[in-house]
Amino acid sequence: MSEHSDSPGAGELSRRGFLKGFGAGTAAAGLVSPLALREAEAAERGGVLGPSPLPITLKVNGKNRSLNVEPRVTLLDALRNRLDLTGPKKVCDRGTCGACTVLVDGQPVYSCSMLAVEAEGRTITTIEGLGSPDKMNAVQKAFVKHDAQQCGFCTPGFVTAASAFVRKNPTASADEICQGLGGNLCRCGTYAGMLMVAADLAKSKGGA
Ligand code: FES
Ligand code: FES
Repeated sequence: MSEHSDSPGAGELSRRGFLKGFGAGTAAAGLVSPLALREAEAAERGGVLGPSPLPITLKVNGKNRSLNVEPRVTLLDALRNRLDLTGPKKVCDRGTCGACTVLVDGQPVYSCSMLAVEAEGRTITTIEGLGSPDKMNAVQKAFVKHDAQQCGFCTPGFVTAASAFVRKNPTASADEICQGLGGNLCRCGTYAGMLMVAADLAKSKGGA
């Protein structure tokens, strides 16, 4: 029986060696994630990432924010507990309710289900980056107009997901907007108000 080894032979290139060499020239172009490079470097030292905190930089709402996080920390906890961005809410903490929704490179993501270290090098937008009380976007205005909330815990997630949806689908019908928000739940049952929000957004073509 021949011996099997995962070690590369002479002239072969290990995955970590490849990532390290390839990454140096391509990280800036976004082809290799900062996390993959960190993992490659840790493996090169014969270890793994963590459990000690790592210095990372997250680009949130247009600003670079530096922080130290253990690799186990979710993006949601990093935003709320380290960066004081408490718009995204921690409700189920298991990827089912959508209250923690943020945009990562413009796509809605459950931030309770993504690690902060995975988000390095990506563009993150929270509800705080979508508008302000005196300069709300069309979705925020529609939620206020139709009083589409009760306790409000689900609202930032709904507004964030809806903002991404209508930006991507500006001619969507009210039904399509409602379907596009299928990943978000409201335990207070304020869906009647949200239907009016969807109808407004459909009429105004996403508020454009
Ligand atoms: S808190 Fe993230 S999906 Fe519910
Ligand atoms: S307003 Fe309370 S969970 Fe939606």
